[in-house]
Amino acid sequence: MAYGLFRPLVFMLDAERSHRLTLKAADALHSLGFLRAFTPSIEPDPVQVMGLTFPNPVGLAAGLDKNGEHIDALADFGFGFIEVGTVTPRPQPGNPKPRLFRLPQAEAIINRMGFNNDGVDALIANVRESQYKGILGINIGKNFDTPIENATDDYLIGLEKVYEYASYVTVNISSPNTKNLRQLQQADELGQLLSRLKQKQIALADQHGRYVPVALKIAPDLEANQIEDIAERLVASKIDAVIATNTTLSRVGVEHVPHGNEAGGLSGAPVRAKSTHVIRELAELLQGEVPIIGVGGILSGEDAVDKIHAGASLVQLYSGLIYHGPALVADCAEVIARTRF
Ligand code: FNR
Repeated sequence: MAYGLFRPLVFMLDAERSHRLTLKAADALHSLGFLRAFTPSIEPDPVQVMGLTFPNPVGLAAGLDKNGEHIDALADFGFGFIEVGTVTPRPQPGNPKPRLFRLPQAEAIINRMGFNNDGVDALIANVRESQYKGILGINIGKNFDTPIENATDDYLIGLEKVYEYASYVTVNISSPNTKNLRQLQQADELGQLLSRLKQKQIALADQHGRYVPVALKIAPDLEANQIEDIAERLVASKIDAVIATNTTLSRVGVEHVPHGNEAGGLSGAPVRAKSTHVIRELAELLQGEVPIIGVGGILSGEDAVDKIHAGASLVQLYSGLIYHGPALVADCAEVIARTRF
């Protein structure tokens, strides 16, 4: 309700600026204790995934809080888990602006942010400062100027640095806005990347006395044989979870909508079916061996349930929050909990 009144104001401003201002406003409301007071409370609906107990299955997807600057305010929305990042080893500015576009007629967003972030050390400082005690995923990527042949080095740096601060770590190889990144999804490259990450994870678990699960985030733009290859590598490398999916390069459904031809990744309603399709295919191939976190186009509680029915154990939201506000978290959690019985 409150977000419905606020939204026209937010949508009058340039997308990136309104995004920043909204998060700042959320921080201020959090400090005053207002955010929690006006957010509907969510009945606990615990789910065990990756060896972690999630208080409810609805999480925040990566990209909204790239530097982990707003964790405490976002926690007030009632998420069962929060994923911050994508963060790269070194800070980088991302692509030139404008690079974020709302497509309200299609309930969609196109972004070509290009991993703008303050670097992994700044993210860690923010995480250390936050009061949040819930499940925190930290999503890691590679710097734009690290040659793709050396991408593994960046992921290993990210994994090592964030390890002790994360409940789980997401390896993002599916952003369409970093040149050649999605090439890492190809069978051989992926197999090598995952086995190096696994070795590092085992060494870090030994060093810290705590096993931190690693999830792989994949694109929706994959052929059936590519999904098969990925599933095979996930099982072989004993990766703890797969997040499906990131944004799409497809423009189906937005061809005639203002900004529909902007370059970048498309999210929101137009990616919903593609993402659910990837989840369903993966679920069939993985047969429960690797849990799936479903994300892409969840704009209602029913959309969230569709992801669970397709085979996801948990879901994440991003674009839906921009169009429907934080009430969507409770909506998804309630409808999922109701359909379990
Ligand atoms: C994203 N997404 C994203 N994903 C990721 O792994 N790292 C990132 O840095 C970002 N950045 C980002 C920025 C913006 C503006 C958007 C809209 C999205 C992808 C996001 O986490 C999610 O996978 C997709 O957006 C699909 O979900 P929704 O938005 O349709 O719910």
